[in-house]
Amino acid sequence: MIEGLVTAKTKAIVPVHYAGVACDMDKIMAIAGAHNLLVIEDAAQAVDSYYKGKPLGSIGHLAAFSFHETKNINAGEGGLLAINDEKFIRRAEIIWEKGTNRAEFFRGEVDKYGWKDTGSSFLPSEIIAAYLWAQIENLDEIQEKRKMIWEGYYTGLKEWAEEKQIRLPQIPGYATNNGHMFYLVCNNREQRDTLIAHFKENGVLAVFHYLSLHKSEYYTNRYRSTVPGLTHCEKYTDCLVRLPFYYELTDENLKSVISIAKSAF
Ligand SMILES: Cc1ncc(COP(=O)(O)O)c(C=O)c1O
Repeated sequence: MIEGLVTAKTKAIVPVHYAGVACDMDKIMAIAGAHNLLVIEDAAQAVDSYYKGKPLGSIGHLAAFSFHETKNINAGEGGLLAINDEKFIRRAEIIWEKGTNRAEFFRGEVDKYGWKDTGSSFLPSEIIAAYLWAQIENLDEIQEKRKMIWEGYYTGLKEWAEEKQIRLPQIPGYATNNGHMFYLVCNNREQRDTLIAHFKENGVLAVFHYLSLHKSEYYTNRYRSTVPGLTHCEKYTDCLVRLPFYYELTDENLKSVISIAKSAF
């Protein structure tokens, strides 16, 4: 599918490790290599997750992590750019330092610093960095709890989901589960919307996730529709529902969400 979408204008492939579960990176890197493209991993949800033993975010040329409040470790907002190809380091550093070579100055490599490129103020403050650092120090504990929540949903919903032919998340053999998210894939949009409405009536916020980019107003107004039917994207747009998932979710909360789901149909 990816290969069929590559054109003369393609510069990069941006695989999304959705729910923190790895894309098949060997295949993607091979396609990128064959067409001389960059790979930028969207590892927003993928902290502490692996592909064939390699940490996600370390495989493509570049990778972006998110520390938005919904992520396993968070700084409220913000993120991290991982650079796996040395040739991008200097420019990234300049963009990071508001468009200046201040970092070179601090390292004593130049005797003054000035404007070199575009940039912005992407640095986190010390306070934000400290808030995040405390979570990194406790990553194992956070991950253990999140994986317990994930397992709780999985075992609690498995039988019901099989009966209703609702799909639960699957982790391919080459990937790990980082306990980022738990979702259900319903049979059709009507069933999904009924489930979301049922959760809402019972005081539970469960949300769809995401709308397809190629169907968005931005994309369709801006580009000729060159994208063929992306049936998987469209199915997930219509059928996926994300269940409440956060570190403080209690066993009682978990049981309640499971029992509300089961009473929906
Ligand atoms: C897959 C994915 N990509 C990108 C983003 C954007 O991350 P941020 O909000 O930190 O810019 C998110 C955040 O929700 C995400 O889940």
